[in-house]
Amino acid sequence: MTSSLPQSHAIYPGSFDPPTNGHLDVIARASVIFPAVTVAVVVNPQKRSPHFTLDEREEMLRRCTSEFPNVKVDHFRGLLADYVTRIEANVIVKGLRVVSDFENEMAAAHMNRSLTNVDTMFLMSDSNYSFVSSSLIKEVFLQGGDIARYVPDVVLEYMHQKRSAHGRK
Ligand code: PNS
Repeated sequence: MTSSLPQSHAIYPGSFDPPTNGHLDVIARASVIFPAVTVAVVVNPQKRSPHFTLDEREEMLRRCTSEFPNVKVDHFRGLLADYVTRIEANVIVKGLRVVSDFENEMAAAHMNRSLTNVDTMFLMSDSNYSFVSSSLIKEVFLQGGDIARYVPDVVLEYMHQKRSAHGRK
């Protein structure tokens, strides 16, 4: 049987390439609902090679979440289900931005529950961020658009540093 909320250790997994204000909003709300939240960065995002290294993604998240004492940042390789079992988390948290997110997330939730008996709980993204994704943020920024209101300040710094390192201002 799934544990009741007060004992819950929630895991919020993702690529976080980079973290956005939408991610931060989910983390902040999860930190109120659950006594412990692990934000878990997947080492190799499935569909692409990451823009930011694992260390950079973890560092950005640590700096953005330092105000939440019950939130820690970690990473995992391979199956989320194996990691959830290893760290003895008992709920997976995901954000849902739009209806089209739901189809894939529903299949993943069923698969993860089937593999681990751990449920996934969904938080509806804040409507201010329902169109914000890491991939869109990178695309807009790399074409010179203003993304300041969609990412934490620390992420904006990392975006500028990374662009400078690649020889562009
Ligand atoms: O931020 P993302 O890219 O939407 O996060 C996707 C993530 C990391 C949650 C998902 O790709 C994942 O769980 N990857 C680990 C591999 C795995 O367990 N795959 C089967 C999922 S049912």
